[in-house]
Amino acid sequence: MNLYKGKAPVLGKGCYVEDSAVIKGDITLGDDSSIWPLVAARGDVNFIRIGARTNIQDGTVLHVTRKSNHNPDGYPLLIGDDVTVGHKCMLHGCILGNRILVGMGAIVMDGAIIEDDVFLGAGALVPPGKKLESGHLYVGSPVTQSRPLRQEEIDFLRQSALNYVELKDDYLSQS
Ligand SMILES: CC(C)(COP(=O)(O)OP(=O)(O)OC[C@H]1O[C@@H](n2cnc3c(N)ncnc32)[C@H](O)[C@@H]1OP(=O)(O)O)[C@@H](O)C(=O)NCCC(=O)NCCS
Repeated sequence: MNLYKGKAPVLGKGCYVEDSAVIKGDITLGDDSSIWPLVAARGDVNFIRIGARTNIQDGTVLHVTRKSNHNPDGYPLLIGDDVTVGHKCMLHGCILGNRILVGMGAIVMDGAIIEDDVFLGAGALVPPGKKLESGHLYVGSPVTQSRPLRQEEIDFLRQSALNYVELKDDYLSQS
């Protein structure tokens, strides 16, 4: 059912995918990552790679852009380790590093790059090809750099991912 052109999602150890989520095609999930209710992730015209201990929260959409003459690789979607993607986000053909928090309802478009240790405010829009620098808070539509992150916020990026590892373990133990 989750197969597309012979490819089905490959899950690492200890992953949790809630029953109502739809994940199809060429997708990999690193160990201890979690996919929450009503997520739609389609690795069909390109691939999706998600690292370890990353959580994709309720109602988020993950998709990619196909290869073409003017863009031979298209835009796959790459998400690193210890990333928190809040509720109802749209991540499309972009690259996210490690220890990032994507605030609720944020949109990240093709070719955008978010470096490690970035906090993206709720409702932010990251336009195509924009690069967000490590260690900063970004807010707004389109996003602008708001300020450097405080140490406690940098620490929280990893903690948020660990909280979700704990939560998915709880869900797994009840299923
Ligand atoms: C951006 C955020 C981190 C707050 O940052 P902050 O620097 O502490 O900001 P403050 O609350 O002090 O507000 C500063 C200004 O930014 C504005 N602001 C706050 N959040 C904003 C957002 N997401 N987008 C745009 N502006 C925002 C405030 O209204 C305020 O504006 P003002 O100075 O004109 O009054 C927070 O509001 C946010 O968006 N967190 C994301 C939470 C989330 O989605 N988590 C995932 C859930 S699982």
